[in-house]
Amino acid sequence: MLIIISVNLVAKFVQDHMQIYLDHSSTTPPRIEVVSLLSQVLSKYYGNPSSLHSWGKNTTTIVEKARCQLANLINAPNPDSILFTSGGTESNNLAIFGIADKYQKPGHLIISNVEHSAISQPAKTLMLERGWDVTFLEVDHLGRVNCADLQAAIREDTALISIIFGQSEVGTIEPIGQLLEIARQNNILLHSDAVQVAGRIPLDVQKIPVDLLSLSSHKLYGPQGIGALYIKEGVTLKPQLYGGPQEAGRRAGTESVALIASFGLAAQLAQEDLIQETKRLQKLRDHLFELLAECPYLEPTGDLDLRLPHHLSFIINSPIDSFNSRTIVRQMDYAGIAISAGSACNSGKLMPSNVLLAMGYSPKQALCGLRLTLGRQTTLEDIEWTAMVLQQVLERLFAKV
Ligand SMILES: Cc1ncc(COP(=O)(O)O)c(C=O)c1O
Repeated sequence: MLIIISVNLVAKFVQDHMQIYLDHSSTTPPRIEVVSLLSQVLSKYYGNPSSLHSWGKNTTTIVEKARCQLANLINAPNPDSILFTSGGTESNNLAIFGIADKYQKPGHLIISNVEHSAISQPAKTLMLERGWDVTFLEVDHLGRVNCADLQAAIREDTALISIIFGQSEVGTIEPIGQLLEIARQNNILLHSDAVQVAGRIPLDVQKIPVDLLSLSSHKLYGPQGIGALYIKEGVTLKPQLYGGPQEAGRRAGTESVALIASFGLAAQLAQEDLIQETKRLQKLRDHLFELLAECPYLEPTGDLDLRLPHHLSFIINSPIDSFNSRTIVRQMDYAGIAISAGSACNSGKLMPSNVLLAMGYSPKQALCGLRLTLGRQTTLEDIEWTAMVLQQVLERLFAKV
């Protein structure tokens, strides 16, 4: 009998640990309250916000409430400065092309070398297809942009500076406040991709008055396929979608009311929990760093102090020549633990990470990035189990080499 109980206990223990999700920078599980609102709005509030009847008016009220919730999350004084998009990618594209398209002839854009592809690809398109000059600012070994480099890169024809707020692969938080000072002194607009930051650390566009800020719902426990671009009052953009007059003429297309409402609620809940949850995650994250500190194969990447609170990243120093970190991601997945080999959007193809290369890592090391990102459901037990499994996986692969 005793043996049966203990076998069951072990089975339960393994089962409980079959699902440890540590990939919250790729996407977060939508909160129960958010899913419930999504289904409620979808089934009950299907009116088109552009319609004059009460079905339409009701959904307009829902959209405007969400706009206020998003404005509150970043302390924007006017909810009308929030424009809903289909996600972080669209927000970033709209910021880059929406500003660039206001100019009659090609100008100059400054971005960093550690931007998400939703910024670097539009920037390269401007450069290769539309004759724009783009300066890609170098970063130091921690992934930080240097203010003096920004100052030196500014030209007469610089139209926009776009710097990521919190880097998704290595967790480094950029000195946006200081970079903004430089942009201001030179009278240039500054956009920041805050997709990884919103809901994780306080954002205040009155304290750090950036001109444009990108947000994404699925990084803060809302549904996928909805995002927002904050546009400071007085800043204008050339729309990228033409059609109806939605979003004050800045983005045509019938609003996705249920997604917008859910994003609004997710933002409100994230804001309510922010201080407490940030502290909790930071503590767990630091504990996981400590547990892995002695592991000879792992070297932390990014800034360990100015860092997203839920984020750990490493390169794996492998004794095997042809190694890449996807092997580890797969092995961890067999053990029921989801981690990432880098940014989500790049993890499908085998390419050295541009971010790690920009930070001075070798091409071999840039194939060996590993990212563990914690979330609301992560427990101390999850962290300790993950540290043990990861070390065992690495030992098994490398110890005999
Ligand atoms: C920093 C950053 N910007 C933009 C995006 C794209 O956001 P979305 O998936 O909402 O299009 C991501 C997604 O991984 C991201 O991490």
